[in-house]
Amino acid sequence: MPLFRRKEQPSAEVDFTKLPRHIAIIMDGNGRWAKKRGLPRTAGHAAGAETFRSIATYCKEIGLDYLTVYAFSTENWKRPAEEVSAIMGLLKKYLLEAIGQMERDKVKMEFFGDLSPLTPELRELCQRTREISKHYEGCQVNICLNYGGRDELMRGAMAYAKDCAEGKADPNHLTQEQFGQYLFSKGVPDPDLVIRPSGELRLSNFLLWQSAYAEFYFTDVLWPDFSKEELHKAIAAYQHRSRRFGGV
Ligand code: FPP
Repeated sequence: MPLFRRKEQPSAEVDFTKLPRHIAIIMDGNGRWAKKRGLPRTAGHAAGAETFRSIATYCKEIGLDYLTVYAFSTENWKRPAEEVSAIMGLLKKYLLEAIGQMERDKVKMEFFGDLSPLTPELRELCQRTREISKHYEGCQVNICLNYGGRDELMRGAMAYAKDCAEGKADPNHLTQEQFGQYLFSKGVPDPDLVIRPSGELRLSNFLLWQSAYAEFYFTDVLWPDFSKEELHKAIAAYQHRSRRFGGV
């Protein structure tokens, strides 16, 4: 068994009374899932979007407070235009459906990232989704779109510098809580558990500030194959960890 999972409990038994408050997921492995089946990469993203739908629905059912997913990074624009456009198409489809079902689902939706390079139509859909759902209480789903952790930190630093220059902030006094207000994740507690499927063991510029004390769970399962049972395994592993936040 790989070293990083040496101490993990094999059981997927979850204590639903002690769920992490916030789970963040890097939805990785769509391309490999498609390749294994002789399909185009875009088919992998379509399957990944379905997995996202079912995992998000399930997270709401079990009473999770926050789910954050990495849908498109600041670096993903380097992919072939056809693939970028397929991912944007899947997002549009998802948002249209989410808007249609909002009264029933009542999931609050937010977007982390700079939405300005998106098409006006997609930007408007994100804005509408955010606006309609902003009063919902319960589960909040954050979609990271054109998001990068470094980009977020630089934007935060620039906004803080601007506030200092305008006399709205004190350059000699800044707490971590105050700086957190300059980030896309403003108002959202840090993730307790970050999950990365597909066997890759890196953070890839995801929630760099917010995941400072997160527990990490890695699995070889590719994102389109990620199921409720896989989520249970991740949560069960989290529940067996001892979190010390730098203390003893
Ligand atoms: C990473 O897998 C996945 C992405 C860059 C795109 C994720 C997008 C979706 C799941 C669909 C749209 C999202 C929503 C929220 C509806 P990869 O392509 O890098 O996989 P690989 O490493 O196997 O090539």
